[in-house]
Amino acid sequence: MITIVGAGQVGRSLAQGLEVLGKSVRFARRQPELAQEVGLQRCAVGSDYVILSTPFMATGDVVPQLGLETGQVLIDATNPFGRGWPAGYNGADFASGGEFVQFLAPQAHVVKCFNVIGFEHMNKPQFPGGKPFMPVCGNQTQAKALAMNLATDLGLDAVDIGDISKAALLENMGLLWGALRDVEGSRDFAFSLLRS
Ligand SMILES: NC(=O)c1ccc[n+]([C@@H]2O[C@H](COP(=O)([O-])OP(=O)(O)OC[C@H]3O[C@@H](n4cnc5c(N)ncnc54)[C@H](OP(=O)(O)O)[C@@H]3O)[C@@H](O)[C@H]2O)c1
Repeated sequence: MITIVGAGQVGRSLAQGLEVLGKSVRFARRQPELAQEVGLQRCAVGSDYVILSTPFMATGDVVPQLGLETGQVLIDATNPFGRGWPAGYNGADFASGGEFVQFLAPQAHVVKCFNVIGFEHMNKPQFPGGKPFMPVCGNQTQAKALAMNLATDLGLDAVDIGDISKAALLENMGLLWGALRDVEGSRDFAFSLLRS
């Protein structure tokens, strides 16, 4: 069972992709509505892994509630821009949102992934130029392999960029994505990595 925290645009797009891949998925929400949904409190317990797709501002409240177990994988799709830093924490103390999430759950293996593409194109994207580039970073090799396999199965070009200190690069790329969206007037684009 894979638990997706936050049933918004990103959470639903990834859930759809995972279900097509034959995976069991459930949402963890503040107020569960459907039978297969659960609350946030200790939702990680018994999960194969967890995907975090809530607003970054909520991470300070949300992540400590999840009951992440030692060695459990937390795929962090959040982007720390737009509305400042979670209450009670100082952004100056953290070089990136990914490192902040790892700080909140030191027992877990945080992997930053899915933050550099629009939710519409996270699941089997169709671009004539090829597969969208999906950089991934985190401190633990097997955890990264899990996230990369998932991204690959969803049709993305997953590349291991390094440890969680590289999250700032991915998050700046998320910012670049936002600037491009404004310039292009469209969300229908993605980054790609050209190789010779
Ligand atoms: N939108 C994109 O294309 C995109 C792409 C890459 C990364 N991201 C990042 O992915 C994350 C999710 O983005 P999104 O577009 O899916 O956002 P969204 O549509 O607003 O969904 C976020 C979900 O998080 C839950 N949530 C909201 N406030 C919360 C709170 N205070 N505490 C706990 N849960 C809360 C809600 O789910 P429930 O109602 O189930 O509680 C909400 O549906 C963000 O960090 C965003 O920066 C977004």
